[in-house]
Amino acid sequence: MNNKTVVIGSDHAGFELKERIKEHLKQTGCEVVDEGTGSSDSVDYPDFAAKTVSESLKRNCVGIVICGTGIGASIAANKVKGIRAALCHDGYTAIYSRRHNDANVLALGGRVIGVDLAIQIVDLFLSTKFDGGRHQRRIDKISKLEEK
Ligand code: RB5
Repeated sequence: MNNKTVVIGSDHAGFELKERIKEHLKQTGCEVVDEGTGSSDSVDYPDFAAKTVSESLKRNCVGIVICGTGIGASIAANKVKGIRAALCHDGYTAIYSRRHNDANVLALGGRVIGVDLAIQIVDLFLSTKFDGGRHQRRIDKISKLEEK
């Protein structure tokens, strides 16, 4: 997975945090693809989660989805085949979502965590590699569930 490109999208409740994360990622040299929304006007999070993860799958890169709690965006993202979206609230969940779950989408709650913590989570998510081994077997079992 290419971790130098990030596709990001949010609803209105995640808009401010999305803008701050974009700024940070650009400063660190990432290519950022913004799938909206473009303002704090009310929109529906499934629309933006779906657009974001479709594009991240196409580009084989990390996706970031943001809504108020991160819950709706993560539920919607995980409906798309091939997506393993992890809702992270701290460094530990960010690290282990990559090491053990090979998460390819990070979900964040714009009304739950502050900007500094969100940026730490993003950096850890992007820099941590999947452990593989026994964890691959478990990921394969998750993939099989997509066929049901
Ligand atoms: C929008 O008010 C809010 O429901 C949404 O951002 C999200 O938190 C849903 O899970």
